[in-house]
Amino acid sequence: MCGITGYIGSKKTYEVLLDGLRRLEYRGYDSSGIAVQVGNSIKFLKRKGKIIELEKSPEIKNMVGTMGISHTRWATHGIPNEINAHPHLDCKKEIALVHNGIIENYHQLKEKLVREGHKFISATDTEVVAHLIEKYYKKNNFESAVVRAIEDIHGSFALAIIHKDSEKLIAARRGSPLIIGVGRNENFIGSDVPAILKFTKKVIYLNDDEIAILSPNNIIVKNLQGKIIRPKVNEIKWSLDQIEKGGFKHFMLKEIFEQPQAISNALSARIINNKIKLDLKINPKNLQRIFLVACGTAWHAGLVGKYIIEKLTRKSVEVDIASEFRYRNPIIGKGDLLIAVSQSGETADTLESIKLAKHQGAKTLGIVNAVGSSIAREVDEVIYLQAGPEIGVASTKAFTCQVICLLLFALYMGEKGGNKIEKIVIKDLQALPKLIKKILSKSKDIQKIAKKYVNAQSSLYLGRGINFPIALEGALKLKEISYIHAEGYPAGEMKHGPIALVDEKLPVIFIANDDHTLEKIISNMEEIKARQGKIITVTNVAAEKIKKVSDDIIGVPKTSEIISALINVVPLQILAYYVADLRGIDMDKPRNLAKSVTVE
Ligand code: F6R
Repeated sequence: MCGITGYIGSKKTYEVLLDGLRRLEYRGYDSSGIAVQVGNSIKFLKRKGKIIELEKSPEIKNMVGTMGISHTRWATHGIPNEINAHPHLDCKKEIALVHNGIIENYHQLKEKLVREGHKFISATDTEVVAHLIEKYYKKNNFESAVVRAIEDIHGSFALAIIHKDSEKLIAARRGSPLIIGVGRNENFIGSDVPAILKFTKKVIYLNDDEIAILSPNNIIVKNLQGKIIRPKVNEIKWSLDQIEKGGFKHFMLKEIFEQPQAISNALSARIINNKIKLDLKINPKNLQRIFLVACGTAWHAGLVGKYIIEKLTRKSVEVDIASEFRYRNPIIGKGDLLIAVSQSGETADTLESIKLAKHQGAKTLGIVNAVGSSIAREVDEVIYLQAGPEIGVASTKAFTCQVICLLLFALYMGEKGGNKIEKIVIKDLQALPKLIKKILSKSKDIQKIAKKYVNAQSSLYLGRGINFPIALEGALKLKEISYIHAEGYPAGEMKHGPIALVDEKLPVIFIANDDHTLEKIISNMEEIKARQGKIITVTNVAAEKIKKVSDDIIGVPKTSEIISALINVVPLQILAYYVADLRGIDMDKPRNLAKSVTVE
């Protein structure tokens, strides 16, 4: 949510900053801006809309100088317009800053600052920080003015700040992600690794309540008490081509097609001689209950995880949406395990749920993609997805790899708990990348089906058992990128309400697997057909009864029941992608969304 970049060095500042912003655009795209120190003044430029608007402005070429900051916004306070776009400045336009997060006490701070004579121009929470720094600034005390301002703030922030008279660029963080890129005779600030990867693979992950003071040849990290911290410099393993489209029209399509490789990577070195190798200390024998906590697509992965973990370990699992979990006074404590599932590792509600569980004595495990992210650092132990960067706002390969990691965890715990692993499951797991490739090779057939439903207004996704969360995920994918209303339901619930929606215009997407629920699903399909609904069936069964009632069939390969979810989700991702593409939507940047939800 909101992307920040900062640069100090001798390259063309605006070029470095724009490059970083373009790569962070998935974090927000309603407006953008840049500020650069030129001589002894601050030049700034802001534009409403996507970053291209900033790039197109002729004034951008004046944004040279040796240090600068930039921002791509996802609005929280104040509508998306030029005034509310970052950077924000103080009254004298001597200080400029960009911010990701929410200043919760900005009303009180603003009232006080206004009484003291400060002039505000925007409706944002961020602007108070610029005025606070201005208030505390006395000649050459830029760093201590920033610290004093931060001490007044409640809420979350990642900040990059410049002053017209300072040779230093300052970064600060509390609760929102921020990294420092370590270069040679130049240094960088970014919300996330893609912002700096073109220039350096060496990064420092700032911790909460730390500030970094950057010059071209030096980075000093301090806590708010002024104590110098020796930060760890981490080496990033990602390559630049992993964060580029590589010939695909969109990141989302690229990431759908990357799934066979991403799954192989997630499995890599974790299955040896039919045994699961995970370096975990958790012992199932000491475990009472397992809580899976996540948001959105990651929550759907958690729902699949519940099904798998309960089946393989016979331990009871509760699955919660993180924003509900943390406010429902959950009964969790010693002997319990909280598993947080997150692609970005920065989702605010998931992060806070971990802190709550830890506070109450539970152990925590992260299933996370982004190495070094806040969640990865907060949990006791972590299983990384190893899926590579996911840039498309709609999660695809992260979902399948989250389920893979949950499956590996369940197999590992099951085995440690004395249950025998069925060899067929391991075999099917290892065969999965090949099976998904088969589905991908039929993507043009799915595109043809998408053409038929491109003008639908609403749709229903139905599945049972392990495929109920896949129905939820299919519906979420369609609605978030095509803006067609879509609902996922357990097929058995259909008659308890959703069937009222069915008419000849409603596409109903069924997941019909060759398992103990098949006959029941077929009956549900008959009931939809009897009401003239249009049926699209994702199935691994070649049954006449299914053919008879389906308007369109997407055939998928057979596999073990607990792996079927990973197969069935892929055609639904492809269907959603093509519907959105045919509707002319840039599904890498769907309206109102941002990839990483770092505010509540
Ligand atoms: C939907 C989607 C979101 C995320 C959710 C959690 O396609 O991507 O629903 O799954 O915002 O994000 P992470 O996994 O980063 O915690």
